[in-house]
Amino acid sequence: MKFIRWSEQYSVNIKTIDEQHQHLIKIINKMHEIIIADGSRKKIELIIEKLFEYTNYHFKTEEKLLETYSYPNWQIHRKEHDDLLKQLLKLKVRLIKGNATISLEMFAFLNNWLVNHILTSDKKYSSYLNDKGVF
Ligand SMILES: [Fe+2]
Ligand SMILES: [Fe+2]
Repeated sequence: MKFIRWSEQYSVNIKTIDEQHQHLIKIINKMHEIIIADGSRKKIELIIEKLFEYTNYHFKTEEKLLETYSYPNWQIHRKEHDDLLKQLLKLKVRLIKGNATISLEMFAFLNNWLVNHILTSDKKYSSYLNDKGVF
């Protein structure tokens, strides 16, 4: 599994959100780096905690935006976030207990987890918010 590289195709054309997505990618890549370097449990624990906290923060930012601008069925988007957070929490527990091989599998999962959500669900609100003057 390769590092995730930010590209324009991930952009939702909203500065704050793009920056937050970039930061999330950075944390996930950092995690990958730790796993392949020494797989230090302490470091993995710290980074997954960081990922969990930042994801939570990012989701709140998005949900607030969607709610403020009455994005149609924004609750569905929130539900998707809730599910992703639950998955991440489960992963956090497994990752802390697991070994490096399992960790790499999880990195692949996280990679898809984030990228799919950005490319499918987040991309959908992009033009709606742009039309409301949010960039
Ligand atoms: Fe997002
Ligand atoms: Fe989202």
